[in-house]
Amino acid sequence: MSIINIIDLSVIGDKRGSLISLEQCRNVPFEIKRVYYMYGMDSQLPRGFHAHKRLRQLAVCVNGSCEVLIDNGNSQEVVRLNDPSKGLLIEPYQWHVMQSFTRDCILMVLADDYYNESDYIRNYDDFLRNLQ
Ligand code: TYD
Repeated sequence: MSIINIIDLSVIGDKRGSLISLEQCRNVPFEIKRVYYMYGMDSQLPRGFHAHKRLRQLAVCVNGSCEVLIDNGNSQEVVRLNDPSKGLLIEPYQWHVMQSFTRDCILMVLADDYYNESDYIRNYDDFLRNLQ
């Protein structure tokens, strides 16, 4: 079974363009306390390399594309995000790496809590040790 959990986001579109609405506890399966976005990444400089203890996140590549590697300690999978109508759920204890960004990549992430460094596991051996 895949460890990649993609949420299909409904697109409201007409000849004027496309619109996607993100609503907490509706199409986003958690309370939204924080939204952050990344842009200006370098294809040669991957980011992430951490897991969270409690945080749930939904990553949407709203422009361009990138890859996300998800590792649950048992298996790894890479998914390419290249569609603003697809959201990747990143759950607690999923080690993740964002990589292979296109120059125009804008990666938006919704999170169910405020930024909290103590929720991060930044060392891969600690991640493996902390798996339930
Ligand atoms: P980090 O989460 O390490 O980035 P990535 O996982 O994409 O490589 O965050 C980079 C820096 O930004 C780090 O100093 C923490 C800070 N930061 C915040 O202040 N608020 C936030 O919401 C996030 C995600 C990061």
